[in-house]
Amino acid sequence: MTERPLTVLGIETSCDETAAAVVRRDARGRGAILSNVVCAQLDLHVAYGGVVPEIAARAHVDLLDPAIKQALAEASLDVAELDGVAAAAGPGLIGGLIVGVTTGKAMALGLDKPFLAINHLEAHALSAGLTDALRFPYLLLLVSGGHTQVLIVKNVGVYERLGTTLDDALGEAFDKAAKLLGLGYPGGPEVERRAARGQASIKLPRPMMGRPEPHFSLAGLKTALRQEATARAPLSEQDIADLCASFQEAVADVVRDRTARAMDLYEERLGPGAQKALVVAGGVAANQRLRAALEETANVRGFQMVVPPPALCTDNAAMIAWAGAERLARGLVDDMAAPARARWPLDPDAPPALGAGVKA
Ligand code: KG4
Ligand code: ZN
Repeated sequence: MTERPLTVLGIETSCDETAAAVVRRDARGRGAILSNVVCAQLDLHVAYGGVVPEIAARAHVDLLDPAIKQALAEASLDVAELDGVAAAAGPGLIGGLIVGVTTGKAMALGLDKPFLAINHLEAHALSAGLTDALRFPYLLLLVSGGHTQVLIVKNVGVYERLGTTLDDALGEAFDKAAKLLGLGYPGGPEVERRAARGQASIKLPRPMMGRPEPHFSLAGLKTALRQEATARAPLSEQDIADLCASFQEAVADVVRDRTARAMDLYEERLGPGAQKALVVAGGVAANQRLRAALEETANVRGFQMVVPPPALCTDNAAMIAWAGAERLARGLVDDMAAPARARWPLDPDAPPALGAGVKA
């Protein structure tokens, strides 16, 4: 392990955020964010109700160079002072990934510094080390528009996947629920706002609850919501609020149950002496109802709950730079042949989740 400070540039282009950041890892392994630039492309995609891959890729080409320049300027750093360049290389939308990886490689080659091809999920998994100096091991619940994963994070590069989604990601389910109720995109915040004015009075299923493996499945819940909405059409504002509250409550029950099951497995696999910590990351972690449900579960089970601040919970480049610094410190560098990968599971040994439309 390297005992000298490392300064790494991170590049994130796997979805619809064009991001660049500079992070320093000190000799004791503590991280500091020197800059963190995120250009969201939301206004380019909002008319389509979701991310359009080709539009995203083109926007990354336009936005990435200025984002990198800004990140270096805000860090008051010359490129020559970097110890490495890290880029998200997957999983994600391939067009955007190619833009980020090619740019990262070109910079590394030009500067004669190491290149680090970062798994975007690994970056989410490691971000609690940057934000909260959390030590290994811990349980990670990653819930965003693109991912739903439950992992044991044992060390850099050592992950055990306990659960994933068999169909939609959690945030995607919120987005689809919002769409079918005629609400805007992204749907999660809007569903939460409406739910606050409603009663969770409509009966909806809780898919996968009680199953031994902590997988998720959201498609059936969405279908049930559609049927309830159709049965009540035309929907009043109160109907919409009640449907949102009922949907959110069903998701909270599922998340509580699946996470408790993951905690069982965590304790079984690591033994009673292991640190009990639950990290919740991804855009859905912003939901106060889900957060309260998770906090309750963590308290009952004696787990410390860590939620990185919103800007580092959602997609960003500081987490990519941090994962790069953690890998660089351990000599885990990549060469110019490292590919951009649309699919890239964090734990290739995890048994496939049956019936999965699994994203990563
Ligand atoms: O992590 P993120 O910003 O982007 C990726 O998908 O990688 O997550 C965005 C997702 C969207 O699906 C959005 O609807 C969901 O997180 N989300 C929420 C809330 N805020 C954002 N879902 C439920 N409740 C919220 N308050
Ligand atoms: Zn992400």
